[in-house]
Amino acid sequence: MPDTGHGPAEVVLDVQSVGMTVSDTTILSDVSFQLERGHTISVVGPSGSGKSTLLRCLNRLEQISHGSVLLNGVRTDTLPAPALRSRIGLVSQKFALFGHLDALANVTLGLRRTRHMSKHGANQQAMQWLDRVGLAGLEKRRPHELSGGQQQRVAIARAAALEPDVLLLDEVTSALDPELVEEVENVVLGLAGSGTSLVVVTHEIVFAAKVADVMLMMEDGQVVEVGSPKDVLASSRPRSQRFFARHLRGSGDTVSEAGLARP
Ligand SMILES: Nc1ncnc2c1ncn2[C@@H]1O[C@H](COP(=O)(O)OP(=O)(O)OP(=O)(O)O)[C@@H](O)[C@H]1O
Ligand SMILES: [Mg+2]
Repeated sequence: MPDTGHGPAEVVLDVQSVGMTVSDTTILSDVSFQLERGHTISVVGPSGSGKSTLLRCLNRLEQISHGSVLLNGVRTDTLPAPALRSRIGLVSQKFALFGHLDALANVTLGLRRTRHMSKHGANQQAMQWLDRVGLAGLEKRRPHELSGGQQQRVAIARAAALEPDVLLLDEVTSALDPELVEEVENVVLGLAGSGTSLVVVTHEIVFAAKVADVMLMMEDGQVVEVGSPKDVLASSRPRSQRFFARHLRGSGDTVSEAGLARP
């Protein structure tokens, strides 16, 4: 995102040497990065490299073994978990909407419970968000009356409506049929373009390059690449090159096209 011109960039999320070990197995080691307010970091890497675990550590669904995570300069382990999770939202591939509630009520529920908004205020805010994700007019539909992509957009609207400091998105398109992927990607591009601070885990390399200010690649629980999408995609590291080539094959894109997708 462009610099706002208001002095130095503010770091909203500061991940410092985070490690996570489960019964002698190292899942994450020495993961460090900073997310500037209003920016987007995309996270790519092979299956099992620790991407989901990293996101889960950031909002403390998993306990880190060492290092620290700072949100607006405050160590997150000093915050109560519910407060932290209302500041760092997470939407995953297995988004869980309430089946008995319509789209509007799915979005208003968190606003009323977490943000203690009035019914009227919550309804207004939820309608704005449903509109932003392209679901105006569908607010009375229950999840089973919506497509997978529409349901995923309700889940994103529900998380974004809470206006968290950081929104974490874990493979939000990977459970969708190919024709529904683009509509959800467009919603994420819209969020990125409107100043939401995002961490986006995706295996869609072209999208990862397009949406992000900073692209990060993980392997075996470690950050092995970090930089502008263009620089990361141009990495000379053989394992990275093979990963990008494999993931771009079949999509009709080349590494240079993906890297240049974002000016
Ligand atoms: N609580 C846990 N206990 C034990 N092992 C775990 C735990 N959480 C994750 N793992 C292991 O940690 C590794 C990283 O898993 P993770 O789900 O973070 O990978 P990922 O990069 O998100 O993969 P994918 O692309 O398939 O979603 C895997 O080997 C996984 O089996
Ligand atoms: Mg994962």
